[in-house]
Amino acid sequence: MAIRKAIFPVAGLGTRFLPATKSIPKEMMPVVDKPLVQYAVEEAKNAGIEEFIFVVSANKDAIVKHFGVSASLERALQDAGKSSLVASIRDCQLETSATHFIIQEHALGLGHAIWCARHLIDSEPFAVILPDDLVLSAIPCLKQMVSVHGEQGGNLLAVMDVHRQHTGRYGILIPGKVHNRLIEVKGLVEKPKPLEAPSQLAIIGRYILQPQVLNQLGIQQRDVNGEIQLTDAMASLLGETTFYGFRFEGKRYDCGDKVGFLEANMAYALAREELQEDVAAAVLRVAHSIEST
Ligand code: G1P
Repeated sequence: MAIRKAIFPVAGLGTRFLPATKSIPKEMMPVVDKPLVQYAVEEAKNAGIEEFIFVVSANKDAIVKHFGVSASLERALQDAGKSSLVASIRDCQLETSATHFIIQEHALGLGHAIWCARHLIDSEPFAVILPDDLVLSAIPCLKQMVSVHGEQGGNLLAVMDVHRQHTGRYGILIPGKVHNRLIEVKGLVEKPKPLEAPSQLAIIGRYILQPQVLNQLGIQQRDVNGEIQLTDAMASLLGETTFYGFRFEGKRYDCGDKVGFLEANMAYALAREELQEDVAAAVLRVAHSIEST
C-alpha cells in the first residue's frame, strides 16, 4: 500500500539548545541555510508523501509560518529584483489542504505526539520523520524505506549500529534473522543502559508504521518518566504484526546534539558544490588555529 501521509513530531522543548530555542523551535534551527524541518519535509515529498501532519506545541508559530505564504517577503524580494530567492521561499510552501498542525497539549513523549495525529491517519500505513535526525545519502532515507516497504509490508524502522556507550539514547533492537538490509525484530527496548542493551542496533528517526500502532499507543502504559513511548507500543505489538529494522544507506547526523548539529552543518555545506571549496578551507583554518594554540 502506498505511503501517503507523514507525521512530523515537532513539539519538543529543545532544552539542549537553550537559549537558542527560547523563542524558536529547535526544528527551525538551520543546517547551512534551511531549517531542520524543511529537510524533513523535502525528504517526505521526495518519497511520495502527499499529506504532512505536524504535531506542534502551542508556541510553534514559526513552523506554521515557514510552510505558509509570505506575501510581504515575496513582494520585497520581487521589488529588489531577487526572483531566484522568491523561488526558494515558494519552494518551501505547502498546500494548505495537504498540511495539518495538531497541538500536543502536554509533553507526554514521542508516542503520545504520534497518537495525537491518529484521527488524520485512518486505516493506512504512514511514515514518521523526526527532523532532529538528518540522513545524507544518494537516495533519501524515507524513499529507500518506501521502496522496501512496497515489497515487504509490515512496519519498518530505520536502524544503524551505535557505540555501546550510547545505547541509552535510542530504541534498541533484539535482532532476529537478517536478509540483506532487513533485520527481523524480535524485541525492542527503549534507551537501555550500555550493559543491559540487547544489541547495538539503534532506531533512528524514520519509521513506516501500520495503523495498529496508533491503537496500541492509546492503551500504552506510561514509562517511569510518565511518558508514552513509541518503542514500548511497538514492542507490545510484536507477535501480532511484523517489524523489520532497515539498515539504510547513508550517513545519519544527530542534530539534537550540539556536536552532531555542527557536524551536520559541515557535512551538508561540503556536499553543496558552490560551498565545498570555501567551507573545506574554513574547516582547515579552524583546525589549524586549534593546533597552534
Ligand atoms: C526517540 C525514540 C528512540 C529513537 C530516537 C531516534 O528518542 O524514543 O527510540 O531511537 O528518537 O532519534 P528521542 O531522541 O526523542 O529521545
